[in-house]
Amino acid sequence: MARWWYTAGSAMLLALGAAADWPYLSYNSIDFQPPQLQINQTGPVDPGYIFLGPRGAIQPAGQAALIYDNSGNLVYEGPDEVTANFMVQKLFGKDVITFWAGDMLDVGYGYGTVHILDNTYNEIYTVTLTGSFVTPDNSTKDSYIDLHESHITPNNTLLVTAYNLTQHDLTSVNGTTSDWMLDSHFYEIDIPTNKIINSWSALDHQDAIPLNSSHQELASNAGTQANPWDAYHINAITTTRHGYLVSLRHMWSGFYLHHNGTVMWQIDGENGGDFKQIGNTTFSWQHDIRVHNETDKGMVLSLFNNHNTETNSEGQTSGLFLGINLQNHTVTGLRSLIDPNDTIYAGSQGSTQLLSYKNQHVFMDYGAISKVKEFSANGSVVFSAAFGEENAVASYRGYRCQWKATPFWKPSLAITRTSDNSADVYMSWNGATEYDNWAILAATSNTSVNNTELSANNVRTGFETAVSIGNLPTGYLQIVARKGNATLGTSDIVSF
Ligand SMILES: *[C@@H]1O[C@H](CO)[C@@H](O)[C@H](O)[C@H]1NC(C)=O
Ligand SMILES: *[C@@H]1O[C@H](CO)[C@@H](O)[C@H](O)[C@H]1NC(C)=O
Ligand SMILES: *[C@@H]1O[C@H](CO)[C@@H](O)[C@H](O)[C@H]1NC(C)=O
Ligand SMILES: *[C@@H]1O[C@H](CO)[C@@H](O)[C@H](O)[C@H]1NC(C)=O
Ligand SMILES: *[C@@H]1O[C@H](CO)[C@@H](O)[C@H](O)[C@H]1NC(C)=O
Ligand SMILES: *[C@@H]1O[C@H](CO)[C@@H](O)[C@H](O)[C@H]1NC(C)=O
Ligand SMILES: *[C@@H]1O[C@H](CO)[C@@H](O)[C@H](O)[C@H]1NC(C)=O
Ligand SMILES: *[C@@H]1O[C@H](CO)[C@@H](O)[C@H](O)[C@H]1NC(C)=O
Ligand SMILES: *[C@@H]1O[C@H](CO)[C@@H](O)[C@H](O)[C@H]1NC(C)=O
Ligand SMILES: *[C@@H]1O[C@H](CO)[C@@H](O)[C@H](O)[C@H]1NC(C)=O
Ligand SMILES: *[C@@H]1O[C@H](CO)[C@@H](O)[C@H](O)[C@H]1NC(C)=O
Ligand SMILES: *[C@@H]1O[C@H](CO)[C@@H](O)[C@H](O)[C@H]1NC(C)=O
Repeated sequence: MARWWYTAGSAMLLALGAAADWPYLSYNSIDFQPPQLQINQTGPVDPGYIFLGPRGAIQPAGQAALIYDNSGNLVYEGPDEVTANFMVQKLFGKDVITFWAGDMLDVGYGYGTVHILDNTYNEIYTVTLTGSFVTPDNSTKDSYIDLHESHITPNNTLLVTAYNLTQHDLTSVNGTTSDWMLDSHFYEIDIPTNKIINSWSALDHQDAIPLNSSHQELASNAGTQANPWDAYHINAITTTRHGYLVSLRHMWSGFYLHHNGTVMWQIDGENGGDFKQIGNTTFSWQHDIRVHNETDKGMVLSLFNNHNTETNSEGQTSGLFLGINLQNHTVTGLRSLIDPNDTIYAGSQGSTQLLSYKNQHVFMDYGAISKVKEFSANGSVVFSAAFGEENAVASYRGYRCQWKATPFWKPSLAITRTSDNSADVYMSWNGATEYDNWAILAATSNTSVNNTELSANNVRTGFETAVSIGNLPTGYLQIVARKGNATLGTSDIVSF
């Protein structure tokens, strides 16, 4: 297998260019410009909305946590910020939305905070990480949580990654005795208290994870504090029956760890690691390793097999499912998901989400290639959507998630007068999933109550509903978002 060194510093996040002419959505009732989805649906999809966190030199208003429906209607746009891992997870038995937000460095890691919101979009927990971390410019951060993982465990704790600079003897990789490198850490954090429950450092385990097995070159200009060598590049972490499974991208490997941090086994995308390879089990530069159906006899792993960096191509990107047999120490290729009609080489980022065991649908986000796809059980593509120029707009991960929410904020309306007593009324309620129609009321002042219903049962049309209304008795309107005849939310009174 060709091994192709590439220069340090290019790591996994692109210096993203401008998105030339990608179309954006816009509304009258709220100032949002999310990217328009270009969608091809060719079969039934699993239930749920599409969760993205686009990033790039796009209109700043569209760089946010975004939820869309299958027709490409916006459902929710969060605050303008760079996000990662925007999705629905379970916390204390309830659905919450979680995402990382912060500074993404273009060398491929970041410093930020994990936000946890309930089904009214109230931020119920904000998880941070402090400690004696060293940064390239010695600056201190409010929180050192890296962008790559924000996973809630069945124990209601949060798994996050962190990158720490340290000086180390790198003579085994042709460096000096005191070069700078990035250590890959993870932390398991108690969500309500921010207390660290467990932590791990790759550099503490050089016996099992030797530095010279990194596929990331120590380039001649690397090894400085400003440009440390990224030996491991941790990018996914999940709990297992005996501890954790961690993905180290630059080792082309997943490592199964005991609770005490000891490496119990390694699955290596090049040579199998501790497993004999049956069939094509090759992967490299991977993201998002997940564990399914674990028993003492084995388990299934899913992963996003980039097979590429910006400067190295091993092959086309796939969604890979591997059978790990712990009894005879074999790894078997189970599913390899590619779209034969759309060959993709994703140089960075990405995710592979198994939607349900029953249906076996898989939802993939292609990272630097701004596309998502859903595959059916037989491996055919049932849904593809693009949300930007390839390699110009990225979403670190992307998911299909079921979500029901009624925001704590009020519906929005904009009114355009079309004559003395008629107007066009534009109505939206960012993030609301449950209302299906609008009522429009005439008010008598900015503060009047029990206003007169002018028009009811205006069926919701996507994110924003427009209704032309005549015979207006006053210059004040109010709107009511309803499910059937039940009121879910009422706007402020707007004069026009
Ligand atoms: C960071 O601090 C250390 C220790 O004080 C110092 O040796 C190093 O030069 C500093 N680096 C930068 C980039 O300021
Ligand atoms: C949950 O916590 C218990 C007690 O600390 C521990 O034994 C168990 O392994 C944890 N489960 C997971 C999935 O981490
Ligand atoms: C980060 O590395 C420095 C050495 O450069 C070390 O002193 C510090 O303890 C490390 N931080 C953490 C949180 O492990
Ligand atoms: C170290 O340098 C030698 C000589 O240039 C080269 O053959 C070898 O591949 C290098 N090793 C690594 C790990 O870069
Ligand atoms: C961690 O647990 C493993 C498996 O039980 C054991 O072999 C190893 O010695 C333990 N390591 C430490 C540092 O306690
Ligand atoms: C997990 O096991 C169930 C029940 O045997 C099976 O239906 C499902 O396909 C398995 N999941 C994976 C990812 O292999
Ligand atoms: C194995 O699969 C990868 C894609 O996952 C492909 O690039 C490679 O060519 C395949 N190798 C063989 C020998 O089929
Ligand atoms: C190991 O078990 C798998 C089934 O899990 C089987 O397909 C494979 O043939 C076995 N390999 C060996 C070498 O026994
Ligand atoms: C590729 O396109 C053809 C023709 O449109 C279609 O029949 C086939 O199902 C597509 N393949 C996949 C894997 O979706
Ligand atoms: C949708 O299909 C058209 C026509 O085949 C193709 O040009 C386009 O790239 C496809 N878009 C996506 C997101 O797959
Ligand atoms: C508005 O209607 C409610 C319910 O019908 C009633 O209880 C309330 O007194 C009314 N308020 C005014 C100011 O008329
Ligand atoms: C609301 O709708 C339900 C079901 O359509 C109906 O049974 C009920 O009478 C309605 N209530 C009012 C106040 O109109």
